[in-house]
Amino acid sequence: MKALVLAGGTGTRLRPFTHTLAKQLMPVANKPVLFHCLESIADAGITSTGIIVGGRGDDLRRAVGDGSRFGLEVTWIEQREPLGLAHCVMIAADFLGDDDFVMYLGDNIVSGGIGQPVKEFAAGRPDVLLMVGPVDDPTAFGIAEVGADGRVLGLAEKPAVPSGDLALIGVYVFSAAIHRAVRSIVPSPRGELEITDAVGWLVEHGADVRAHVFSGYWKDTGQVDDLLDCNRELLRTLEPVNLGTVDVGSELVGAVSVAAGARVTGSRVTGPVVIGRDTVVTDSRIGPYCSIGDGCVVSGAEIADSIVLDGASVRDVRAIERSVAGRHSRIGGVPAGDSARRLLLGDGSEALIEP
Ligand code: TTP
Repeated sequence: MKALVLAGGTGTRLRPFTHTLAKQLMPVANKPVLFHCLESIADAGITSTGIIVGGRGDDLRRAVGDGSRFGLEVTWIEQREPLGLAHCVMIAADFLGDDDFVMYLGDNIVSGGIGQPVKEFAAGRPDVLLMVGPVDDPTAFGIAEVGADGRVLGLAEKPAVPSGDLALIGVYVFSAAIHRAVRSIVPSPRGELEITDAVGWLVEHGADVRAHVFSGYWKDTGQVDDLLDCNRELLRTLEPVNLGTVDVGSELVGAVSVAAGARVTGSRVTGPVVIGRDTVVTDSRIGPYCSIGDGCVVSGAEIADSIVLDGASVRDVRAIERSVAGRHSRIGGVPAGDSARRLLLGDGSEALIEP
């Protein structure tokens, strides 16, 4: 079994962050989304992993290296244009050969891992195993119609009249049967070779396509609110650890993780909160649900339910929430007593709010 991770694409919905950062490198709980995905693949016992990259390939290569720290052997595959998920399978044909593989969307978080569907695929040997999960609004997702025996009877993208509530999660297990399907379909009206069309083609041609119903937490981190939601979810299992320096004037409440070199003085941190390496927190109130990256400065600030990326500073700010501060961005001057504000600030940006 191999893995194919899709980390190209444009990430338009995550602008401004994706102007300067691959969306798969956006951190949740202080770890890039892609790293959560690579860890899941390694945990499922897979080593040989192809990663599809587009314009931000160099950044991704630098972040992942040769994959050895995840226990993976990584092969990089260039996609010149984001021509669709099925196009990714097509250009990975040489890497995949005739092997079974897990296709994992590199911007998805699947809590609890993919070991179970991989085992189920190996035991039942269908042509395709789709991971699906129940959703409240099936009109907003790719929906699989699943029979009582677990066989997939059809697929529909954002159906006006849904045939069920089981949405496709960004993890698919394929046999080599998918290769013929991706070569047999034509681009959709949006100009992409859709994986749902390829799987639909297999269903129409009598292939054994099955569904694995997943009941855990999963999310496509395509938009800022999804990213913040994931951040909250992953922080819920945070283990408290203090490798930094916390002075007597500070209080850490609940699960707080303070990385090496970080300093917390005169502050109250209400977990779950993760504070990155060499970050300095002074006279502030942080939490709950905050991920503060490496080398940040948080001073005289009140911040909750937010992600602050590496090198950012948040000064004299009362209060911000549901915010994302890009790398080396600067936020300052939100006056005390004001109602909480929300800021989405790209890398290197500055927001200085005057009373
Ligand atoms: P999407 O979220 O569908 O696409 P996108 O990244 O272009 O985002 P947006 O709609 O905001 O512009 O992609 C899901 C995952 O698959 C993501 O990790 C990017 C990756 N991908 C590719 O690698 N190649 C592609 O051709 C496409 C469409 C996506």
